[in-house]
Amino acid sequence: MRTRRAALSAIASSAALALSLTACGQSSDGGSEAGSGDAKDATIGISMPTKSSERWIADGANVVKNLEAKGFKTKLVFGEDEPDQQVSQIENMITQGVDALIVAAIDNKSLNNVLQQAADAKIPVISYDRLILGTKNVDYYASFDNEKVGELQGNYILEKLGLADGSKKGPFNIELFAGSNDDNNTRYFFGGAMKVLQPYIDKKQLVVKSGQTELTQVTTLRWDGATAQRRMDDILTASYKSGKVDAVLSPYDGISIGIISALKSDGYGSASKPLPVVTGQDAEVASVKSIIADEQSMTVYKDTRELAKVAANMVDAALNGKTPETNDTKTYDNGSKVVPAYLLTPVSVDKSNYQKVVVDSGYIKASDLN
Ligand code: GAL
Repeated sequence: MRTRRAALSAIASSAALALSLTACGQSSDGGSEAGSGDAKDATIGISMPTKSSERWIADGANVVKNLEAKGFKTKLVFGEDEPDQQVSQIENMITQGVDALIVAAIDNKSLNNVLQQAADAKIPVISYDRLILGTKNVDYYASFDNEKVGELQGNYILEKLGLADGSKKGPFNIELFAGSNDDNNTRYFFGGAMKVLQPYIDKKQLVVKSGQTELTQVTTLRWDGATAQRRMDDILTASYKSGKVDAVLSPYDGISIGIISALKSDGYGSASKPLPVVTGQDAEVASVKSIIADEQSMTVYKDTRELAKVAANMVDAALNGKTPETNDTKTYDNGSKVVPAYLLTPVSVDKSNYQKVVVDSGYIKASDLN
């Protein structure tokens, strides 16, 4: 209980606390010292959205590793992309008396009631990677610069088509895909990409033959690759009886793999009908292999080992009466408050730099790519 009181005071009066800490000459830099203070015996509940993508499995394992290295106990649960299941899993952890929660939401608006229970029990909540919306009861947000992710994808398309440097004028055909409509990241990824692509659509150097350009028309529920594959099939049938697709904006590797399957079934991937530029995100093994095989064009690498570290440091600080380190206090308004965030930097990866960025860094083992 002492840990929760410390957490409450940290969050309720973090400004005053930061001042008083400075006055006592203590650091408030994210509390990186291992197992410090009262929090030693605390248990942290970690709720991840799904095991259907390798990144979340790695995220879960890395968060556990970082917390245990600081002396915390952990409870790790995975939803099966089922919002109700995630709610009851979190409810169970609150009942079991966890001292803090780290949550990567499945449906960003489904957690308001359960997070009220967390607040009533004075449990601090870290929103992990995906911002939880519509509740004051989320204390900090650990993520990447999500708009930048979309910009990297959009800019890659412009460069590969020769539009960025003006060496080609087009028009080129592009189709647009976005992530799950219940994931707050989706609108940031899509918004970042469209910020760079829209001017070329306006100038008709990029043409969306399907006519599907609104976010509501291009989302992919739960980021499901098979859903994206079906939508790409339908677009090819309806809009490409003549002409070919030159680029596909894809927000995530699992979706990219589905899109590429649809394209290959339609005869793309030969010298006379090359695959379009296809973007992605997460540097999943299957997609890095696809990049090496000249199918998927790029992915956006986000070092989730670093994200796990940030989240663990936030918990450690909050439970030890310190102010977690943040680097963005403006961007992430969840509808109830602006959630203080620590944002990491995403990196564009293609065949030219995958070795250096994802293999040499130890993110993916070279042997997994054989
Ligand atoms: C997003 C996340 C992406 C990707 C996607 C599908 O929330 O930011 O990196 O993992 O979910 O899992």
